[in-house]
Amino acid sequence: GRVRHYKWEVKYEFKSPDCYKKLAISINGRSPGPSIIAQQGDTIIVELKNSLLTENVAIHWHGIRQIGTPWFDGTEGVTQCPVLPGDTFVYKFVVDRPGTYLYHAHYGMQREAGLYGSIRVSLPNGESEPFSYDYDRSIILSDWYHNSTYEQAAGLSSIPFVWVGEPHSILIQGKGRFNCSTPGIEAGLCNTTNPECTPYALTVIPRKTYRLRIGSLTSLSALSFEIEGHNMTVVEADGHYVEPFVVQNLFIYSGETYSVLITADQDPSRNYWASAKVVSRNSNTPNGLAIFNYYPNHPRRSPPTVPPPGPRWNDTEPRLAQSIAIKSHQGYIHPPPQTSDRVIVMLNTQNRINGNVRWSINNVSFNLPHTPYLISLKHNLLHTFNQNPPPDGYDFANYDIYSIAMNVNATTSNGIYKLKFNTTVDIILQNANTMNPNNSETHPWHLHGHDFWVVGYGKGKFDKFKDPKNYNLVNPIMKNTVPVHPYGWTALRFRADNPGVWAFHCHIESHFFMGMGVVFEEGIEKLGSLPTSIMGCGDTKGFHRP
Ligand code: C2O
Ligand code: CU
Repeated sequence: GRVRHYKWEVKYEFKSPDCYKKLAISINGRSPGPSIIAQQGDTIIVELKNSLLTENVAIHWHGIRQIGTPWFDGTEGVTQCPVLPGDTFVYKFVVDRPGTYLYHAHYGMQREAGLYGSIRVSLPNGESEPFSYDYDRSIILSDWYHNSTYEQAAGLSSIPFVWVGEPHSILIQGKGRFNCSTPGIEAGLCNTTNPECTPYALTVIPRKTYRLRIGSLTSLSALSFEIEGHNMTVVEADGHYVEPFVVQNLFIYSGETYSVLITADQDPSRNYWASAKVVSRNSNTPNGLAIFNYYPNHPRRSPPTVPPPGPRWNDTEPRLAQSIAIKSHQGYIHPPPQTSDRVIVMLNTQNRINGNVRWSINNVSFNLPHTPYLISLKHNLLHTFNQNPPPDGYDFANYDIYSIAMNVNATTSNGIYKLKFNTTVDIILQNANTMNPNNSETHPWHLHGHDFWVVGYGKGKFDKFKDPKNYNLVNPIMKNTVPVHPYGWTALRFRADNPGVWAFHCHIESHFFMGMGVVFEEGIEKLGSLPTSIMGCGDTKGFHRP
């Protein structure tokens, strides 16, 4: 493969992605940042200069497994120390599989300040995909707040708790539209004629077929994406080929990527709306809108129709049905191991710990240590984190997932799961009621360093005797991010075959911040010495940087 060298400078800049002026984090002046476009087998080198002045940074390459380079996963507190203001950090890794991936900040809640972008890896020359198209395009969906990440983080960790609330806007490829005449908005801060918030236009040539790669990096929202009057054929999910199926609207959760095929087969004399609507929460955030622009109509010409309203926010059935419909493409099935060596059931609950509102897994709410696990484990700094692993399950028989979680015994911990190298692990994510009556949320769980087989979804409480009999062990899709639906469960299987330390967490920024995550270690003894560039914080201050 080739070497692709990028020089990125990260800094705060005033931006108006939804017409409202606010500080955003940009890469080389842009948010979303530059796309990484590569071919399978290429080596990516990103020289990252932190010009944030007073803030650390780290960037995670979401969906890239980092085989042999776990120290470049970019997860602050897990695989590296943060990059200090003024410093330059060099990430170097191989993109070993074709597909659609993402990158984003992985330090505090920095991602939602706009520090993210897409990674597109194409097949080696001469190989082709199991579908055809004329043009390839990428967009990122996100949600946008006018409050800073600091205001949000402070609110989430204060007593009384201050929730971040619903986002001000939904952005499509970094562009949205806030209603500047909202009462209380200072004149001068919001300007709908600012070209920075001109809606994103996807220009298409009539009758041509487009592969649209869609990634979601929302901080909170689950979305339904659709293009007025056009069907979409789903062909890829998280870098894996899907047995094609047609949808009118695509449900997409934070951390997921999909490729859909769209043929520009409608009346070419006009433009159409592309719309992203919040689902799963009763949100007052207006739908994000972009323009599906038929050439040669003007890309800013508004479609003559009312944008599609989208599905009802609280209708879980079609979302569950779409999750279940995603199967591996016939010609590309990697069958999962038929049995597993270990089953970890993870009960997801919201609860109060020492007065703070937290999320817990089996009554343990996660927090990050000061010294990254990878360095602690490799250098035997065992005092740097809790050596008690979190539990492999919860009290099945006695937990009512439909009632308000009291969880009086919940604690916080930075203990981790140690997995035996090369074993097969099943994870059952079990959803439950939050601290509000009749409320259960959707959580998109993302695993670093691996893809997993999605072997089952179910409603209600997982039955460890009955439900595994219905697992799909024939053609399950492999993914790196998967939703657990309200009051439901999701079962995953993966091989612990990538030496390193890997985060597994809810991809909702505030949920991870509130403890909704765990960490796995496997095969650490197989790793050679760590690059010193990842050191310098916590108990590794004496391990000097180059
Ligand atoms: Cu895309 Cu740990 O996140
Ligand atoms: Cu969550």
